[in-house]
Amino acid sequence: MAIAKIVYASLTGNTEEIADIVAERLEEKGLDVEIEECTQVDAEEFLDADICIVGSYTYDDVLVPDEIADFYEDLLELDLTGKIYGVIGSGDTFYPCFCQVVDQFDKAFQSTGAIKGAESVKVDLAAEEDDIVALEAFADALVKQLD
Ligand SMILES: Cc1cc2nc3c(=O)[nH]c(=O)nc-3n(C[C@H](O)[C@H](O)[C@H](O)COP(=O)(O)O)c2cc1C
Repeated sequence: MAIAKIVYASLTGNTEEIADIVAERLEEKGLDVEIEECTQVDAEEFLDADICIVGSYTYDDVLVPDEIADFYEDLLELDLTGKIYGVIGSGDTFYPCFCQVVDQFDKAFQSTGAIKGAESVKVDLAAEEDDIVALEAFADALVKQLD
């Protein structure tokens, strides 16, 4: 059974909820899904996964939130050649740098040699119906890359 690992950073719960939506869809598709908060996991654990997913919120114009900074630095050191990745996150369109951390992790994954399996999904605050549709399509696209 293919393994999907989801690592997320979430202060007020929006990104956690987004990660849960993706996890549920991947489970429905028959994957073995591991979902963990970023301070509880080493980036090296992505080496055991087929699909690697990061979810993060964005606060101000920091590169990445503090609690996921170590994970981010370690991710940059990994060789994830042959793996599939995707990035999701919550932000607020009020801010000029809407969900910039999602793009930051996309760049980090590109440096690992992993293949982008789905376009990133950026959610404005909490996921609404159209976001759920986009997140489920994101999960489906990742699974399709396994074929
Ligand atoms: C002080 C502050 C700064 C923020 N800065 C940004 C920002 O630069 N870009 C953005 O897209 N969202 C920004 N946000 C919005 C959060 O990313 C948004 O509330 C998000 O849903 C939080 O996700 P979480 O519930 O997973 O913690 C900011 C929020 C606060 C309170």
